[in-house]
Amino acid sequence: MKLRSSFVCQQCGYDTPQWYGKCPNCGEWNSLVETVKEDARLGTHVSAHDRTNSVKPQRLVDIRHIEKNRCKSGYGEFDRVMGGGVVPGSVTLLAGDPGIGKSTLVLHILASIGGLYVSGEESAEQVKLRAKRLGINGENIEMLAETNAEAIVGVIREKQEKINLVIVDSIQTVSSSDLDGMPGAVGQIRHSTELLIAAAKSQGTPIFIIGHVTKEGMIAGPKVLEHMVDTVLYLEGERFANARILRTLKNRFGAVEEVGIFEMAENGLKEVTNPSALFLQDRVKNVPGSVVTVIVEGSRPLLVEIQALVVPSQLAMPRRVGNGIDYGRLQLLVAILQKRLSIPLGTFDVFVNVSGGLTIEEPAADLAVAMAILSSFKNKPLDPATAVFGEVGLLGEVRRVAGEERRIKEAKRLGFTTVVSPQATRNLQQAGKLL
Ligand code: TYD
Ligand code: MG
Repeated sequence: MKLRSSFVCQQCGYDTPQWYGKCPNCGEWNSLVETVKEDARLGTHVSAHDRTNSVKPQRLVDIRHIEKNRCKSGYGEFDRVMGGGVVPGSVTLLAGDPGIGKSTLVLHILASIGGLYVSGEESAEQVKLRAKRLGINGENIEMLAETNAEAIVGVIREKQEKINLVIVDSIQTVSSSDLDGMPGAVGQIRHSTELLIAAAKSQGTPIFIIGHVTKEGMIAGPKVLEHMVDTVLYLEGERFANARILRTLKNRFGAVEEVGIFEMAENGLKEVTNPSALFLQDRVKNVPGSVVTVIVEGSRPLLVEIQALVVPSQLAMPRRVGNGIDYGRLQLLVAILQKRLSIPLGTFDVFVNVSGGLTIEEPAADLAVAMAILSSFKNKPLDPATAVFGEVGLLGEVRRVAGEERRIKEAKRLGFTTVVSPQATRNLQQAGKLL
């Protein structure tokens, strides 16, 4: 058998016969690792030739409608994110930081759908322990503590259609005996995933692959994995806060903007059907520096509290610290407040925090951030029944944002009687009068 040695980038999967200090494709330093592999191209070529006689096209109308066959977990938040349930034969990558709750989430889903749990990360006893904690007795779950990709695929193929769902926890522990690299190396991850995808497609068994995320926020090593699978889910949240958000980065079978919201509790992940209440539960009313805003996550409006603290600075370069909001955006808002409202923030430190460990990306929170800073600076609380949203422009003008009606409705539903929105407020000066 012919062996081929190549250097594979652990970040992007770029494959080159020559070593470089910096990946020519993604620019990452020291990411190329030597991988020895058998030249498999010859083998696939022969089998492709064999198959030419058996392939034939099918009419679109004759193809079974997948919508009907979606498998629901009964977990409303999860099913919605998946676009209405798990599609047969689909392969989903569930990514997230270690310890965020990926194994917990999949165990809940497996307990309701039933199937095979392949664990390379934890022993069968550890999984049993977690199941007990979640109140799952596991009659419909089979355990397989295995890390060899061929062996896993062998078990899946043996079970044929008798299996509803397969979980592989995690792909970083799986390796193929075809390759020499260590488990977790990009070549191994890619090849093992290819084997799993082939098994899923050929017999219609859905597979969930769990993947850890590196510090850099990439789906560990192989970004390539994202392109291979049908759906990419991302579970995020602050480790020490309870809220968990399940996002879709890619979905061949549904909308990508959907999010599911969960709460990590003593006995597992609970669905949160009223997320605004969750994010506002710890709010202290009538304190300067606190402003409630309405953001939109996926198709749902969400109320969250923005907190700001403005204190005289001891430093030549006053500090601007934003937790859950973009640093550049914070600097911009501070500058706008200085220029348009003549607030002398140049000698003050400004700290801003988003409650519940959420990260806000949309500019719709601008007005609330600016008003929270203003409220702390003036030491005047905003009326607690007021919610605020709108983008702030460089001239201090309040700009329209998407989904205004939905945001206003949600705020009213949760008992906010006044909503400061772009519809009623022209600029920052006008909003500032409320303080
Ligand atoms: P886990 O699902 O193991 O995370 P991952 O697979 O993403 O690494 O979850 C780990 C954390 O969740 C751990 O710190 C304990 C916490 N946890 C709970 O708070 N409640 C629970 O019921 C369970 C099972 C875990
Ligand atoms: Mg885990």
